[in-house]
Amino acid sequence: MSTTRLITTRAALRDARAGLSGTVAVVMTMGALHDGHLQLVHRAREVADAVVLTDFVNPLQFGPGEDYEAYPRQIDADLALVDGLVDVVFAPPVEEMYPVLPPVVSVSAGQAGRRYEGAMRPGHFDGVLTVVTKLLNLVQPHVAVFGRKDAQQLALVQRLVADLDLPVRIDAVDIMREPTGLALSSRNAYLSDAGREQALVLSRTIRAVEAAAPSAAAIRAVLDADADGTQPVDAATDTDTASAGDTSAGEQSVHWDYRLLIDPTTFEEAGEDARGELLVMLAARIEGTRLLDATVVPVTQP
Ligand code: PAF
Repeated sequence: MSTTRLITTRAALRDARAGLSGTVAVVMTMGALHDGHLQLVHRAREVADAVVLTDFVNPLQFGPGEDYEAYPRQIDADLALVDGLVDVVFAPPVEEMYPVLPPVVSVSAGQAGRRYEGAMRPGHFDGVLTVVTKLLNLVQPHVAVFGRKDAQQLALVQRLVADLDLPVRIDAVDIMREPTGLALSSRNAYLSDAGREQALVLSRTIRAVEAAAPSAAAIRAVLDADADGTQPVDAATDTDTASAGDTSAGEQSVHWDYRLLIDPTTFEEAGEDARGELLVMLAARIEGTRLLDATVVPVTQP
């Protein structure tokens, strides 16, 4: 592979794309790259001849009061990390991606985009699917590689591609974790040492549901338990579908936005009788930072 090229305009990206031979994979990111992104890049290299990494903090997917302004932007460090690993880094300024903001026409994630994470962040998935569609159109990849941590995003991107007949294959990559179990995320940078310790409640919960499989009742008991695994939390308060509540472990509080068992075929909450490979999705706020985690568990018993 030749050295990595930084491209910031759509026209230059089209030219560069025309020069890439063989199959092309895209890895879409908002920058602040970490080892989890590198894992996506390595997967992309395995499945395609050329790799385009997009590095763009998409304003459309941030709501009022969210961390759009504060979101870490570090293009030089990002470039250094992927230099020689990808063919192209596409890092456009906002006005290049959105000459009109918000765009007149955008993509709707529909009802499924207003549930769970979408209920917490209204409009978020419309913004994600709009930029994903634009980036797919600009890069024209054969494969797009996404991580499984943002489980609802992955499911909606898969629906986008299926429902709109987009000519790309979606490749999903497992969550990468620190040795402590914490799922890698650009937002981990916001956490203090104490917050990182607190955040381990997510991966502990993931390990507990995996140990509780294949019993549906045992999995639900874990998801309904307090942060220390013993006491039930309050019923949902933020949405009508999510299990939410404040729990405290140690000195600071963990606010669970949801702990859900989902039937991935319908993307509805799994009923009592649901069996098969079910999706567990977790979202918690720690020191004001929203963190996600997810896993797939086999459920074969009541
Ligand atoms: O997962 C992300 O980082 C973003 O949602 C994505 C897919 C790059 C779109 O902005």
